[in-house]
Amino acid sequence: MLLEKVVVPGSSSQLLGLRISRCLNCGVIPIEFKTFPDGEKYIRIKEEPKNRHAIVVQSTIPPNPDQGIVELCFIIETLKELGVMKVSAVIPYFAYARQDKRFLPGEAVSGKIVCNIIQNAGADEILTVDIHNKRLFENLRIPVRDLSAVPLLGEYLNKYKLTKPVIISPDEGATNRARSLAEFLGAEYVVLSKFRDKHTGEIETKSREIDVINRDVVVVDDIISTGGTMVKAIEIAKNQGAAKIYAVCTHAILVGDSRFRILNAGVTEIIATDTVPSDVSLVSVAPIIAEALKE
Ligand code: R5P
Repeated sequence: MLLEKVVVPGSSSQLLGLRISRCLNCGVIPIEFKTFPDGEKYIRIKEEPKNRHAIVVQSTIPPNPDQGIVELCFIIETLKELGVMKVSAVIPYFAYARQDKRFLPGEAVSGKIVCNIIQNAGADEILTVDIHNKRLFENLRIPVRDLSAVPLLGEYLNKYKLTKPVIISPDEGATNRARSLAEFLGAEYVVLSKFRDKHTGEIETKSREIDVINRDVVVVDDIISTGGTMVKAIEIAKNQGAAKIYAVCTHAILVGDSRFRILNAGVTEIIATDTVPSDVSLVSVAPIIAEALKE
């Protein structure tokens, strides 16, 4: 039976939810959000959702990812109680995804715990975008689809008519992303080696010779958080004579003064998607999410 789809946007993905509903040509159910004086959350589904396929869209973003997770679970479980037939949890930016294993003895594998909470709330599937590492989802019972924003970012970059572009992966973890972007743009790619101190979080990136003189450079990563990873890679490209440098990512968290430090390191533009909405969200992931939901 083909269920009628309806988008239910959480408080952190209102616009993206609307964009997805437009791509799908389906309705939107609004939610009332409130915070009680003691800080507790309140949600109310404002329309009868019964018998439909609800697409709940909620990025779990700063400054309060925990609140995003709690709200998401409130929405999913309430929809189920109200007779929704299927819930797709669309979590474009998935908080805690980087804590996908125990790096130091005794640590909580918080990414895995968050997955379980969302599954237990009643989600029938999870859709996400450029998850840090797919191993996060290994033990879930429900299906998970991780979508790639790389073709959308590539299409956007194509407008810039880049000069003999070189794509740089700032660490080994972003190799596949850099390779696919390079393939999309018909460019070369280079992978840098990054080391992060597990205790202090300090980053060290090993410099290497890259043929970037008078060429445009795109440094691509999944997340820009403190900007430390980007800045190190940008400095390596800049010091070797790169022309324009673009800092490209899917999820621009941009903590503190990271935007300033990235631009100050010599970047022409920061380009990101709307998984984390901000003024650098120049690319919308709505089309790929809608396309996946049509399948
Ligand atoms: C981790 O390896 C990720 O892929 C990113 O490189 C990292 O999250 C970026 O963090 P930051 O901006 O704080 O260096």
